Amino acid sequence: MNKDFPNKLNSQNDGEINSIGNNSLKDTCTGPRNNKNDDPSAMVTPWNVEGQVDYDRLIKEFGTQPINPEIMEQFKKLTGEVHPLLKLHYFFSHRDLDFILHKIENGEKFYLYTGRGPSGMVHMGHLMPWMFTKYLQDKFGSKLLFQITDDEKFLSSPDRTSEEIKRYTYENILDIISIGFDPSNTKIIVDTVHIKHLYPIALEIAKRITFSTSKAVFGFSGSTNIGMIGFPPIQAAPCFMPSIIEGRPTPVLIPAAIDQDPYWRITRDVADRMGYYKPAQIHSKFLPSLNATGGKMSSSKPETAVFTTDEPEIIEKKVLGAYTGGQATVALQRLFGGNALGCPVFWYLRYFFDDQKESDERFVRCISGDLLCGECKNDLAEESKSFITSLKRRREKAKDTIQEYMYENEPLEF
Ligand code: TYM
Repeated sequence: MNKDFPNKLNSQNDGEINSIGNNSLKDTCTGPRNNKNDDPSAMVTPWNVEGQVDYDRLIKEFGTQPINPEIMEQFKKLTGEVHPLLKLHYFFSHRDLDFILHKIENGEKFYLYTGRGPSGMVHMGHLMPWMFTKYLQDKFGSKLLFQITDDEKFLSSPDRTSEEIKRYTYENILDIISIGFDPSNTKIIVDTVHIKHLYPIALEIAKRITFSTSKAVFGFSGSTNIGMIGFPPIQAAPCFMPSIIEGRPTPVLIPAAIDQDPYWRITRDVADRMGYYKPAQIHSKFLPSLNATGGKMSSSKPETAVFTTDEPEIIEKKVLGAYTGGQATVALQRLFGGNALGCPVFWYLRYFFDDQKESDERFVRCISGDLLCGECKNDLAEESKSFITSLKRRREKAKDTIQEYMYENEPLEF
């Protein structure tokens, strides 16, 4: 077990798939804090997550598959365990994961592909898919392509300058390296630096996607700048790079939160026609915003998130000031109990730090009125401070190894 990471982000190896009741608590924490799943204003796009996300509904709307007990059993057969983030249904949906697991069973290799859009500093939500990607890399010895879409983030906001994006690209690369990916099996692609490797594939993809499809999938309109309209094939391109690198069709698995799914829909549409496997995905939920507005933790809303560069006092202030599912007074809390399911502090602890038994006990103590919000906030503040302190040490060391991780070792100039 790697002691630099919370228990949750390593496997816990007890092999059980049970939790309270029938194996998962329903995560209702990304929206207006009303615990209902019928928010008509809910929206999940690669650039924005608003309202109460109903993850079951997303599976239906996006046409993905739930991570079911069979998939977990397959993982267990291959690795001897079920990772806690699968058991807790943090990773809750997939496309063709069974195909990847079948390939592994047959001794075939697959690539991992994930990424970051450098719109700001990295927060703890971003780390979740990356840590899970590292777990998969360690378990299966996979090569990883890690894309930084600096072009996307330049284009997607009228106010962001290229200087800002350059700075965030550098800072975000330190976070990525600090996850501990195997340097001999990991290559970082920065779009504006490595465009010559992406562009020929992106052209082939672009030629096969109509503007009507793109509008329907991404919601582009007459006022969208044409850079954004042309961008999606650039994020699709790394799905096919492994086949080009290896000289034969090579399976690819993408771990990411579900907001990135529109990109994979258009990529999967063209894969067959281009002679490649459709890229497979494993989708996570979102680490929720810490404040009362709901939605996901977001780099562009600093008060909603704990960043990897936050000082301990700032972390403490954000966490102690966080929205919770508590009652207005201690007396009411004792009488009626808290609303753990609508509480970002509960979910943050459950997904990131508590083990399942601790979290289940926390849930029961909260809803029965035995536990007050201050205790959970203190636990979260302490855990987050110590996690970020050790991550910062690894970030510092990462400064000396950037070059090693760059695709084709092409130098980055800052
Ligand atoms: P970006 O930078 O918005 O997000 C990076 C990764 O973090 C996930 N994510 C979250 N996960 C949990 N809780 C949250 N609150 C949260 N917010 C974001 C995202 O789903 C993503 O996995 N366009 C992409 C960059 C990219 C990419 C990729 C991402 C390029 N290629 C391949 C995933 C896979 C972006 O802007 O991600």
